[in-house]
Amino acid sequence: MSVDRQSIHGQWSSRFAFTLAATGSAVGLGNIWKFPYIAGENGGGAFVLVYLICILLIGIPVMMGEVLMGRRGRQSPFNSVIELCDEAGATRAWAGLGVIGVLAGTLMLSFYIVIAGWAFSYALAAGRNAFNGASAEEIGSLFKSLTDSPVRLTTWSTFVSVVTGVIVWRGVQAGLERTVRLLMPCLFALLLLLVGYAMSTDAFMQGISFLFKPDFNQLSANGALVALGHAFFTLSLASGVMMAYGSYLPKGVSIAKTCLVVAAADTIVALLAGIAIFPIVFSYGLEPNAGPELVFVTLPIAFGQMPFGWFFGTLFFVMLVFAAITSAISLLEPVVAWLIERMRMTRGQATAAASFAVWVVGLGTVFSFNIGSDVLIFSKDFFGAVDYLTANIMLPLCGLLIASFTAWIMKERATRDELDLGDSPAYEVWQFTMRYVAPAAIVVVFLKAIEVIRL
Ligand code: PHE
Repeated sequence: MSVDRQSIHGQWSSRFAFTLAATGSAVGLGNIWKFPYIAGENGGGAFVLVYLICILLIGIPVMMGEVLMGRRGRQSPFNSVIELCDEAGATRAWAGLGVIGVLAGTLMLSFYIVIAGWAFSYALAAGRNAFNGASAEEIGSLFKSLTDSPVRLTTWSTFVSVVTGVIVWRGVQAGLERTVRLLMPCLFALLLLLVGYAMSTDAFMQGISFLFKPDFNQLSANGALVALGHAFFTLSLASGVMMAYGSYLPKGVSIAKTCLVVAAADTIVALLAGIAIFPIVFSYGLEPNAGPELVFVTLPIAFGQMPFGWFFGTLFFVMLVFAAITSAISLLEPVVAWLIERMRMTRGQATAAASFAVWVVGLGTVFSFNIGSDVLIFSKDFFGAVDYLTANIMLPLCGLLIASFTAWIMKERATRDELDLGDSPAYEVWQFTMRYVAPAAIVVVFLKAIEVIRL
């Protein structure tokens, strides 16, 4: 049974356009900034392995589920779920899934704009040749002088909010396609260059074994939860984004193939970033568990040493900015689509209202690096608390609901029709994973992290 609804917000011109937009959303700060530092904080290899397993067993199936929900519902995430509840004859309480997701996405955007601001500021610093020949200490104090300054951080986050808002206001498609098409190959090339530099250091093998040799003594239950949460974060899942983007996807495009391409590109970028960063960490005597500053205190050292480092450095941070912006716009889109549908706002009004709210919440993150670093919520600073709440609680919870909704509540006819996997057993594999494997894994990791069970 096929349905032929259309989204009022528009439609992607092709499968390629969707793939680009979804890849643009997935590849972002999560890959280059967050993945290396959480891998470093959680002991490396075992964490990376759990993360890869989560991508494969949970991330990819959930992404398919989320995109299919969007395409069938054809509205903002919240309203799509309501539509699908009605279609399946289920209670509309499932719309809570849309609420958790969009709320998580909006909260994540509030720190995203601040970190994207760091990347902007580093692009300028690289252009000024500020990294040239600098020692690890000098690079470290460069970073500190940025994060110590609420004014500088706020200026940058304001700038990022405005840029993101303007793009979303003009409509998701205009400009996005070209940006991502140019960005991805460039980003790959620059990461390869950095991997080349990492190979020239004497700690290359040490970095590689840190990243890929699992030592399960290094991984706590909480570390496994962080890996799970990051699988959702990095693939832009459970935050309304894939559902919103799915709602603009033309009928007849293969959801499975597209999701595989997006997940593969995303994972490769993250691993390349790790391979580039950890050898530098070890060869300069830095700490792998330095936290959110890791990328910003390692890669500039490499740029400071290599010929034309100012050029490659600028290019790299400009790429990082673009990667961050293509993710930020995707984070803003679901809430904007909802405001338009629900509050009858124009696109301009909805974007302005949402951007402003996000910017205000983002001030909490700005201050958590300086004047507000003593303000603790559950013994975490504001940024740490928002990050923990969203990535480790809201995303896995919403992912669990998506898996249950698509595999148990929606009619099999509907999901089969959307996924359109032909006669292969792929549909059964997907359904089994979504029914049993993904929910069980999420619940086990959750319970273990809050120390309810022993395994
Ligand atoms: N996937 C993005 C990244 O890795 C972040 C993101 C999360 C974007 C959720 C959209 C939705 O940087």
